[in-house]
Amino acid sequence: MPTEVLDLNTIALMILRWIHFFAGIAWIGLLYFFNLVNVPFAKTMDADTKKKVIPELMPRALFWFRWTAMITFLVGWLYVIWKIFIATDAGLLGTGGLFNSTWGYWISFGGGLATIMWFNVWFVIWPAQKNIIGWVKAGQAPAEMAGTVKRAFMASRLNTYLSVPMLFGMGAASHFPSFNLVYVAAVTLVGLLIAWFFINLSQKVTG
Ligand code: HEM
Repeated sequence: MPTEVLDLNTIALMILRWIHFFAGIAWIGLLYFFNLVNVPFAKTMDADTKKKVIPELMPRALFWFRWTAMITFLVGWLYVIWKIFIATDAGLLGTGGLFNSTWGYWISFGGGLATIMWFNVWFVIWPAQKNIIGWVKAGQAPAEMAGTVKRAFMASRLNTYLSVPMLFGMGAASHFPSFNLVYVAAVTLVGLLIAWFFINLSQKVTG
């Protein structure tokens, strides 16, 4: 078996990539749990059950959710920085750079969508859920509760939709050496339809 001597950058980038998609699958797996399992399940709970289940389930699930989102996000951008500024001198605009290569275009597309998703997790969903959990625990339903639930729900749904084209961008960067706006439009449209199909199906699936 031929063994190549690997340079430090190759090893570092492999480790970063590995941490990145390890955290990424955990994050997106939880996102799908919330959207495809928990939303339809929550509709079947009465107020008493909600008071018992939500304060036990949601803080645990949201702990893993927001921190895996943070790791995915930070390590993803660290990978980009390492690749374009340390492993090579491509930078943003040089050959092979973030804004001057097929790799970079797909990463900008996928990483851009994932960055919106990370923002939603940390600045919309988590603050809203913290309030919701507190209210449910205290048996309160203040006037702003309906709006807060809706805001968290909409951001979470948006993330579910964005996740499908986002993941295409991730995989395409190193394995699909072509990029243009027709591909982006097609991938986005098909991705949104796939997410819509699974969200719809989740409302019918009971086991
Ligand atoms: C938050 C912003 C994100 C950035 C900046 C980012 C960036 C990157 C980069 C630079 C790569 C390496 C591509 C290469 O091999 O050269 C990558 C790969 C990958 N990313 Fe992300 N990513 C982000 C979010 C996500 C999320 C949310 C997931 C969800 C699962 C994800 C899943 C993956 C996977 C599976 C790979 C491996 C693809 C491959 O090796 O073919 N990424 N990402």
